[in-house]
Amino acid sequence: MISMIHILDAFVAVALIVLVDRILKGNNSRARTLPPGPEGWPLIGNVLDMPTSYEWQTFSAWSEKWGDIICVTIFGQPMVILNSPQHAFEILDKKGAIYSDRPVLTMASKMIGREPTIGMLRYSKRHRAMRRLLTQLIGSRENAARFSQHMESEVYYFLSRVLRQPEAVMKHVRKAAGAFILKMAYGYQVKDGEDELVDLAQRAIDVFSFTTTPGAYLVDIFPILEHVPTWMPGAGWKRKARDWAAELQEMYDIPYEFTKKQMAAGTAITSFTSRNLEVNPTDQDQMIQYAAASLYAAGTDTTVSAINSFFLAMMCYPETQKKAQFEIDSVIGSDRLPVLADRDQLPYINALCSEVLRWQPVAPLGMAHSSSQDDYHAGYFIPKGAIIIPNVWKFLHDPDVYTNPSEFNPDRFIPTSNREAEPEPRQYAFGFGRRICPGLHLAEASIFLSCAMSLAVFHISKPVIDGVTVEPEIKYSSATISHPQPFQCSLIQRSAKAEALILAMRDESEP
Ligand code: HEM
Repeated sequence: MISMIHILDAFVAVALIVLVDRILKGNNSRARTLPPGPEGWPLIGNVLDMPTSYEWQTFSAWSEKWGDIICVTIFGQPMVILNSPQHAFEILDKKGAIYSDRPVLTMASKMIGREPTIGMLRYSKRHRAMRRLLTQLIGSRENAARFSQHMESEVYYFLSRVLRQPEAVMKHVRKAAGAFILKMAYGYQVKDGEDELVDLAQRAIDVFSFTTTPGAYLVDIFPILEHVPTWMPGAGWKRKARDWAAELQEMYDIPYEFTKKQMAAGTAITSFTSRNLEVNPTDQDQMIQYAAASLYAAGTDTTVSAINSFFLAMMCYPETQKKAQFEIDSVIGSDRLPVLADRDQLPYINALCSEVLRWQPVAPLGMAHSSSQDDYHAGYFIPKGAIIIPNVWKFLHDPDVYTNPSEFNPDRFIPTSNREAEPEPRQYAFGFGRRICPGLHLAEASIFLSCAMSLAVFHISKPVIDGVTVEPEIKYSSATISHPQPFQCSLIQRSAKAEALILAMRDESEP
């Protein structure tokens, strides 16, 4: 009898174990369901579904079928696309502790050498320490405002270059953005005309932008290809990587050595590098060197894209331009130019700057994050190492949130008695969580100054060639940082007084 009870007990115990195991396995397979997405093929996954350009548009279209959280896999690498800001905040902000890593892009990070810069660094102690160096300098609106004089002078120089050579406005925009960051990061004053450092940095930035576009290089999917011999037919990309790496190294070294020499000679202008080297003269782990290079890499191209979009918008929306100029004329008058301290008195200009960031997002897919731990979100499984892409373009062009999203309309941000303001784009345009852009206050200040000062002195319009108005094509590049295609633009000083204001400043101090 006793043995019978034991046998029964044992049987029940085994049955229970099997049941619990089944339940757990059942739960697991349910919980391990990846977010939905196009079905894909064995082995290659969704390679054939992936768009080759303007990914943000395809990802937005996918949301109609698959929803706001989508997963695709590329040769087994899961990529989670977030098509709503709610998911982006819940995942990238609230769960920042496990969603702040970066995917390793073999081409850009390892082969070309971007790895040690903040934007590409894996989430680590070093990343946090480097970010601290930057946030001490520019991490708040007040801190960023310490550079207001530098910024204002660079915009003055910009205006005077435009006055002299209005047809080259895009070139001047790039030079002004580069000049400001080189001064802030290294105390380097760019030369008038061509400046070899601006050119060198620009080449490095162009390479960054196209080598970090998702899926740009096969070696990012198959890191083993890194070991393909350079001489092999078809390995042209490897030879290019070697040249780009050499150029990037110059970008790391030349301006940094410049500051060191100036410090040794006692002639250094205070800058990010000089200040930090004073505290830590050996910079043994090259933290200061790479942090300074990160400023240039991340801060120039982004600002350039936004300011060029401003000129394009002003040409295409003359009524908006008039309204903005009316505000400047009424608040500031015509005896001086607007400065950063006027920001709070110019609500329409602020709305216009917000609209610049929304209308043509500078980084339409933000910058990819990566998860450092398995997670469950909204009932879906997100595996460790998944690449997370916030579709910022979709957030800022959602017709349910922004009225006529393709239209440039700053009024959308000014509440009226019967309409609330539409959501502020800055909460999406600068990224998320622990990787949020540390330069956002600086970026906003510099966009404000470029827009307000240009509007104060120039009438911006479509060019007229042989009596025919040239209609600009609103077309943007498809890369990590999206730029308008080169466009022509007519810039004419609004009055003799406006011209005198620019010339007065130029005579005083232009390099
Ligand atoms: C219109 C101008 C700008 C835009 C739209 C912009 C946008 C962004 C975005 C989307 C990211 C990625 C955030 C994420 O991973 O979630 C980022 C990162 C970064 N930005 Fe900006 N940015 C701008 C200007 C600047 C400026 C002026 C600086 C510095 C001078 C700067 C420095 C950085 C750095 C260092 C990172 C890397 C942060 C990290 O990975 O921890 N940015 N920015």
